[in-house]
Amino acid sequence: MELDWLLAPPLPAAVPRQHLLYRRLREAILSGRLPADMRLPASRSLAATLGIARNTVLFAYEQLVAEGCLIADRQGTRVAALPAAATASPRAAAVPHAPQTLSVRAAAALQREPARDAEALPFSPGVPDFGTFPFRAWRACLERAWRDAGWRQLGYALHGGDPGLRVALAAHLTSVRGLPVDPAQILITSGTQAGLDLCARLLADHGDTVWVENPGYLAARVAFGLAGLQMHDVAVDGEGLAPCADDWQRHRPRLIMVTPSHQYPTGRVMSLPRRLALIERARGAGAWIVEDDYDSEFRRAGPAPPALFGLQADAPVVYAGTFSKTLYPGLRLGYLVLPGTIADDFIHAAALATRAGQGIEQRALADFIARGHYTTHIRRMRARYSVRQAVLRAALQQAFGPGLVLSGGEAGLHLVMWLPEDLPDREVAQRAAQMGLGVRALSAYARPPVSCNGLVIGYGNLDEAAVEGAVARLKRALGT
Ligand SMILES: Cc1ncc(COP(=O)(O)O)c(C=O)c1O
Repeated sequence: MELDWLLAPPLPAAVPRQHLLYRRLREAILSGRLPADMRLPASRSLAATLGIARNTVLFAYEQLVAEGCLIADRQGTRVAALPAAATASPRAAAVPHAPQTLSVRAAAALQREPARDAEALPFSPGVPDFGTFPFRAWRACLERAWRDAGWRQLGYALHGGDPGLRVALAAHLTSVRGLPVDPAQILITSGTQAGLDLCARLLADHGDTVWVENPGYLAARVAFGLAGLQMHDVAVDGEGLAPCADDWQRHRPRLIMVTPSHQYPTGRVMSLPRRLALIERARGAGAWIVEDDYDSEFRRAGPAPPALFGLQADAPVVYAGTFSKTLYPGLRLGYLVLPGTIADDFIHAAALATRAGQGIEQRALADFIARGHYTTHIRRMRARYSVRQAVLRAALQQAFGPGLVLSGGEAGLHLVMWLPEDLPDREVAQRAAQMGLGVRALSAYARPPVSCNGLVIGYGNLDEAAVEGAVARLKRALGT
């Protein structure tokens, strides 16, 4: 068989001859052009045919022998018989293949939450102010962490996370949030999302029921759906999660996911009687409550309401916190505070499931907290976000007049603006997106029979000076 086509033009200048020959031989074998058992010429003879050095041919042959595409024996070199799936021969192509798809659960998750990349847009919810981040103090902490780094920080994280960070965080949560926390109860995670994923996999079994708020946090649905849990939507009213008797009787939960300090997205705060009742009923049902306390640091007035965790001794509550709002989301650090009864086992299982890392960032963060930068930054941002919300409220009031209905501003980085029925929120959000605004439709967070119509408006990353212009654009998107 003539093999001079193996080095026929085009010959890409940047690719050495030996690599090109190897690649073309490999392609020819995989495509079936060089069939199984075909004998190839001796290296010296092929080198003469192609006008190249023998070593060039030897390199290609040896590489293909090592990969199992060629067989070299006393008789010479021949093409190996590869499994039909590896070659594109007509026979192989006729064999029906299983469709190459994601799992049913992953496909469902994709349908529920389209990927978006709108963090930089004015009014995108949940985005902190990147401009006022204390870069210098953070960089100094990172530099110190790198300077002192040993194998401990470069290897997998210790079970539970950096010991210094767990101690600093426990002290912070006790003094600022009033949580009775021992460092041994803290598990450092790669953000709340990783924490929810762990709760789904370690506290519930495939097919168990998880209650999610309706309307509620879409990313939590993704975590629970991917873990194979059965999701049950529970309505939210002015006092937070509002389960009815039917929910308890016919949809007995194993997990209950709540955002009691600042319900996402409505911004409502769960009342104390509702908190106590939820703990009591969950205890009776053998359910775990997962308390997502994602932005209560930015309470507008007065202290944050007491967390479910620690409200009663031995309450079946796992508390999830994050540094995504107080510092920046790309840091990917958060934490779970676990009841003492399961802390050891949960942390051990989590270490098996995740193989955590980020030792340097964790150490830098411990330093950042211990030096007081974290508390100072939160205090500063609380005041700043409070001003920002007031400026936004005033601008909205000015633009939309007395008919304006706002809610959800007790804490955090977003407001909800309720819309009349003749202005469907999804259409408004779409028009706003075309005008470069990141508002989200409230109804996108809800599942039937709950319906709500409004806009979730983030103000965390919007400079006060830009508020008026952004509100003017929003007014145009609303067509009012
Ligand atoms: C309700 C809620 N929980 C938690 C988070 C933080 O998630 P993570 O820590 O994974 O960034 C967010 C961020 O948008 C949120 O809106």
